[in-house]
Amino acid sequence: MVATTVQLHEVTRSIEKSLLALEVSEDQKAFIAPIEQSAKLAASVDHFQIAILADEVVVGYALYFTTLDRAGKIPQQLKDSASRYTEIVRFLVDRHFQRRGIGTVALGMLVDHIRATHGATKIWMSYRKRNTASGKLFRKVGFRDTDVQEEQEFVLAGV
Ligand SMILES: CC(C)(COP(=O)(O)OP(=O)(O)OC[C@H]1O[C@@H](n2cnc3c(N)ncnc32)[C@H](O)[C@@H]1OP(=O)(O)O)[C@@H](O)C(=O)NCCC(=O)NCCS
Repeated sequence: MVATTVQLHEVTRSIEKSLLALEVSEDQKAFIAPIEQSAKLAASVDHFQIAILADEVVVGYALYFTTLDRAGKIPQQLKDSASRYTEIVRFLVDRHFQRRGIGTVALGMLVDHIRATHGATKIWMSYRKRNTASGKLFRKVGFRDTDVQEEQEFVLAGV
């Protein structure tokens, strides 16, 4: 149960500083790139980052990619009805705020936000098989694993 107000917020200068202080636990470091790297990626075309706030405190971060595949490199079965390909490429909740339901609420809001902002009808997420928290979270929000062949160790799920 979440006893807090969860919000998504654009990444402003001051929020960016707080994002850099977010931490995951030691055993989760293998599952997600450092925020500094993600922030660099966010500057590239078709990438969008978002801060997760709980009671107005920055507690998490998401980065997604949505494109009309101008280069024609994305397999047809991954694109939606408007030929759009959308993937959540980073999603994290700071270790001090995990297991309170914040990830579930924020991910649901993120899916709604991506659909409303970009018109995406299919959203993908890829996660490591042994990242059980991530798999559980994505299934709770309605993502379903596919049998699309991913790099070893990874599962592709869509909603
Ligand atoms: C995955 C992550 C975002 C979940 O955030 P969260 O706020 O703790 O998620 P919630 O509290 O909403 O929990 C969602 C579900 O996952 C489960 N869960 C959360 N952390 C867990 C853990 N460490 N081990 C097992 N299950 C876990 C919860 O129990 C819950 O399921 P339940 O309702 O059936 O009990 C967070 O663990 C995280 O940031 N991990 C590191 C980064 C990462 O792996 N990101 C995903 C890949 S990009």
